[in-house]
Amino acid sequence: MGSVTASINLHALQHNLLRVKQLAPNGKVISVIKANAYGHGVLPVADALSDSDGFAVARLDEACYLRKQGINKTIILLEGVYSIEEYRQCFELQLILVIQSMEQFHCLKEFFGQHQPLISQKNNDPVFEYWLKLDTGMHRLGLSKDELTYLLENETDFFSDMKSKCLLSGIMSHFSCADEVDNPVNDAQLLQFNQQYHQLMATQAIKLNPVTKSMANSAAILAIPEAHFDWLRPGIMLYGVSPFESANPRRTGLDEQLMPVMTLSSQVIAIKKLKKGDCIGYGASWCCPHDMTIGVIAIGYGDGYPRHAPTGTPVLIHNTEVPLVGRVSMDMITVDLSLLEEKSIPLKTGDKAILWGEGLPIERVSQKSGTIAYELLCQITQRVCFRYE
Ligand SMILES: Cc1ncc(COP(=O)(O)O)c(C=O)c1O
Repeated sequence: MGSVTASINLHALQHNLLRVKQLAPNGKVISVIKANAYGHGVLPVADALSDSDGFAVARLDEACYLRKQGINKTIILLEGVYSIEEYRQCFELQLILVIQSMEQFHCLKEFFGQHQPLISQKNNDPVFEYWLKLDTGMHRLGLSKDELTYLLENETDFFSDMKSKCLLSGIMSHFSCADEVDNPVNDAQLLQFNQQYHQLMATQAIKLNPVTKSMANSAAILAIPEAHFDWLRPGIMLYGVSPFESANPRRTGLDEQLMPVMTLSSQVIAIKKLKKGDCIGYGASWCCPHDMTIGVIAIGYGDGYPRHAPTGTPVLIHNTEVPLVGRVSMDMITVDLSLLEEKSIPLKTGDKAILWGEGLPIERVSQKSGTIAYELLCQITQRVCFRYE
């Protein structure tokens, strides 16, 4: 007793992938499985999402791991790489590399300059593909307007040198506010992206390449159909979570016809009858307003449950939402069992408590805790036992 379980519903993952395909039937789907598939376990998730057209990860290590585990699909490396040695690895692993800065572009050129004699020119040799990431307003990663113009004016030899087998095959950008449906920044980013695409295609050296476009994360897949383009990049929605969890009114995955993938559960390990005025847990921060029964549940920030979850955060026991009371500790939380008593639902130690997932949307917990579901999912710790169903 007392072990915490993250049950991962693989069928729900597949359902959510189908939902992406329904929403954007003409796009290819790159499932975003960075950060250990948003905390769900990257290999079983990649396996369950095998109907995707490719996967995206942030870092080279993540891509290397997938290739080592035998994943042969297209893999896009969203942050790109920084040294000649890392370019060599990308080439060997046949990753599609994102170039998001001038520095990375120059490093790519240098890599091909140095390795040209090593890369044979036979027709059946693989091509090194890369995408340019454009900064259309997020101002995090991506080439600025001026940088793209500079490249198009000064690097035509590199773009047209097909013998090098280094192919610009796509452009991408990332929305900063796609989760705010009416934010004018979305239109501005989309406009700039389309303009830069036309600028690119008007460049003699490039126009023969089939340069594809990618801009849509989950929020844009759900709410900005004009941004669907060729490649979709769903992340959070695949895991059954609404990207609009911060909207007013807040939405949950169920509102988007998604199924929750992770259900985090534990057990009641003690039941205590307390008197009016008894205070609970560290800091004695919450005191009983009347005589009451408190349940102690084996979950805490040592498992990844948010320490900042305040009194009132819902926990599901016997299909009834009961409120957390007092502070979250490393291994335990305490809940007010009055509602179960009112409904005459008997409770004993060992009974299951659901922290989020099936029956209790994670968005409810993230809202209470002042964070987003992305963070809650990613911060589950190694102590939690994962079960794939
Ligand atoms: C470049 C890029 N594309 C797509 C995604 C997926 O976003 P979401 O999880 O909001 O669908 C991310 C996630 O952060 C990203 O960084």
